[in-house]
Amino acid sequence: MEENSNGVLRVKNLTKSFGTNVVLNNVSLNIEEGKTTVIIGPSGCGKTVLVKHLIALLRPNAGEVYFKNHRIDNLSENQLNNIRTHYGFLFQGGALFDSLNVTENIIFPIRQHCKITDWKDVEELVKSKLAMVGLDGFQQFYPSNLSGGQRKRVALARAIALNPEIILYDEPTTGLDPIRSDVINELVLKLQKELGVTSVVVTHDMTSAYKISDRIIMLHNGKIIADGDADHIRNHPHPVVQQFISGQVGEDDLAVLRMRGTISQTQFLPRDFE
Ligand SMILES: Nc1ncnc2c1ncn2[C@@H]1O[C@H](COP(=O)(O)OP(=O)(O)O)[C@@H](O)[C@H]1O
Ligand SMILES: [Mg+2]
Repeated sequence: MEENSNGVLRVKNLTKSFGTNVVLNNVSLNIEEGKTTVIIGPSGCGKTVLVKHLIALLRPNAGEVYFKNHRIDNLSENQLNNIRTHYGFLFQGGALFDSLNVTENIIFPIRQHCKITDWKDVEELVKSKLAMVGLDGFQQFYPSNLSGGQRKRVALARAIALNPEIILYDEPTTGLDPIRSDVINELVLKLQKELGVTSVVVTHDMTSAYKISDRIIMLHNGKIIADGDADHIRNHPHPVVQQFISGQVGEDDLAVLRMRGTISQTQFLPRDFE
C-alpha cells in the first residue's frame, strides 16, 4: 500500500527498454476512476507497451504500477490472476477462438476464474453481455460467420464477462470502416455510462479519440508530450502533436523517405494504420 494516491491505475516513473530500445522513459500517469483515457501516438511509440504494464503483462525495468493502491508490477502470475479479474481487455489481434462458438468464447474467462455450477445462470449472463453489444441471438455462431465489427463486439462481450471495473482497449477500431468504428465508439461510451467502468483506449483514430475521451495522452519518444481534454489536444502548441492529429508526416519521416528514394513529396502516409 502507499499513501497519498489518487487514480484507480497509477504508473510511477516507469521505464521500459527492449535491449537498447528505450520505449518508455520515466513515465508517470494517474488514471481517474470512471473516466475514459485515450492514449495516442504514432506506431511504435509504446502505446501497447504502456497499456500492457497497466495489467502487468509486461514488467518495467524501473518504476511502479498500482491498481487501486496495490502494487502490481512485482506480483507473481499467480497473485496477478486475482487482480486481473477486475480488468477486461480487448487487445490488438486479441482474436476469438475460431473453434469455439460465441457463447463458448464469452464464457472462456469465466471458466478460467470460476467453477461453473449453474448453466442457466451462464446462459443468462451470455445473453445479457451479448445484448449489451447488440448481438443477442448470435450465441451459436462461429467467428468465421461474423463480420470484423461483430467479432470485435463479441470480444468486447467477452471482455465484460467478469464485470470488470477497468477495460483496456488496444486499437479497437483498427481495420473497421468508419460506420463500424463508430459502433465501437458508441459501445465504449455506453459501457462507461452504464457500467461505470474506467476505460483506457489506445487509438490513432482521432475521430474516435475526440468522441470517447475524457482525457487524451500523447506519447512521443518515450514521454508523455500532451495530456488534456479534446480541446486541449486540438489546440496544443507542440508541432509533433499538431502533425499527428492532422495526419501529416513529420519532417524526420519525410527526410528518411526521401533518402530511401521511395517518395518525393506526400501529404499522407499510412504508417499509422497497421
Ligand atoms: N516484446 C517485445 N520485444 C522487443 N521489442 C518490443 C516488444 N514489444 C514492443 N517492442 C518495441 O517497443 C516499441 C513500442 O511498441 P508498441 O508499444 O507495440 O508500439 P505502439 O505504440 O504501436 O503500440 C516498438 O519499437 C516495438 O518494436
Ligand atoms: Mg500497439
